Amino acid sequence: MSRFVFNPMGTTVLITGASSGLGAEFAREFAARGADLVLVARRQDRLEALAVDLAERFGTVSTVIPLDLTAPGAVAVLVSELEQRGIRVASLVNNAGFGSYGHFGAIDAERVRQEVTLNVLALTELTRALWPELIAHGRSAPATGALINVASTAAFQPVPFMSVYGATKSYVLSFTEGLWYEAKGNGLKVVALCPGPTATEFKTVAENEEVFFGNPQSATQVIETTFRALDSRSTPPRIVSGLGNAFAARAVRLVPQRSLLTVLGRNTTPGRRR
Ligand SMILES: NC(=O)c1ccc[n+]([C@@H]2O[C@H](COP(=O)([O-])OP(=O)(O)OC[C@H]3O[C@@H](n4cnc5c(N)ncnc54)[C@H](OP(=O)(O)O)[C@@H]3O)[C@@H](O)[C@H]2O)c1
Repeated sequence: MSRFVFNPMGTTVLITGASSGLGAEFAREFAARGADLVLVARRQDRLEALAVDLAERFGTVSTVIPLDLTAPGAVAVLVSELEQRGIRVASLVNNAGFGSYGHFGAIDAERVRQEVTLNVLALTELTRALWPELIAHGRSAPATGALINVASTAAFQPVPFMSVYGATKSYVLSFTEGLWYEAKGNGLKVVALCPGPTATEFKTVAENEEVFFGNPQSATQVIETTFRALDSRSTPPRIVSGLGNAFAARAVRLVPQRSLLTVLGRNTTPGRRR
């Protein structure tokens, strides 16, 4: 008998962006709870090293599928790989994502396309493709499967100079909370995870060493918070990781939008002395 309410033991979880940061940490916690894994990202060597490590520590079987999720037809390729290998997924962690920092007009147009494609389109397509089997699994074995979409505290207000990123995360939050309701009574846990600044490769990828990253949480802290919420009998539609982040997420709603944007914009302007 598991000591956890959320018990994915013996099921399979697909995690996108598993080659570093939060995705790799999700993989470790699911493996520790006895789940097998499908690990997706572009860096195959990282995924394979993680798969070996998890097999040694937890006896987990991992399937590595190296893929650029912004490539045309990538989600269809992924789903067909799963079908060919006879893998049925009980949990999906849509974690792959990145941000771009700077004046909107200075960010490469192709990079903008990739950001929206990865953070919004691939996440939505993959959720749609796997939704029937996630729901079917939840009905047959309640509280053993989950849909976890990684949003951000950037979802709660516009983020000047990361305007595309903030908008994509608002989408993820809204989309996931809608699905939380739609999944009710089907045994599938659905949650939008909203981390604040977290020590991963994110800020290097975003080319943003300047702002937002004072006092980050560790990836382990974020994943602990997530599984605590999954272990509650009534998992909420959103999880904000960290007390300070949870407070800020509520506080921004009380500030008039013009004032909020003025303060945020001043603090996020590239090159501003801090
Ligand atoms: N760190 C933070 O402060 C923070 C705060 C709030 C929300 N988040 C969100 O948390 C999630 C995880 O980010 P992280 O902080 O763990 O950053 P990270 O360490 O940079 O991890 C991002 C992951 O996404 C994968 N990825 C990027 N582009 C991809 C592509 N085109 N196709 C497939 N996989 C791709 C990366 O793998 P490859 O490079 O190998 O493809 C990597 O595994 C993201 O959705 C991010 O927006 C992060």
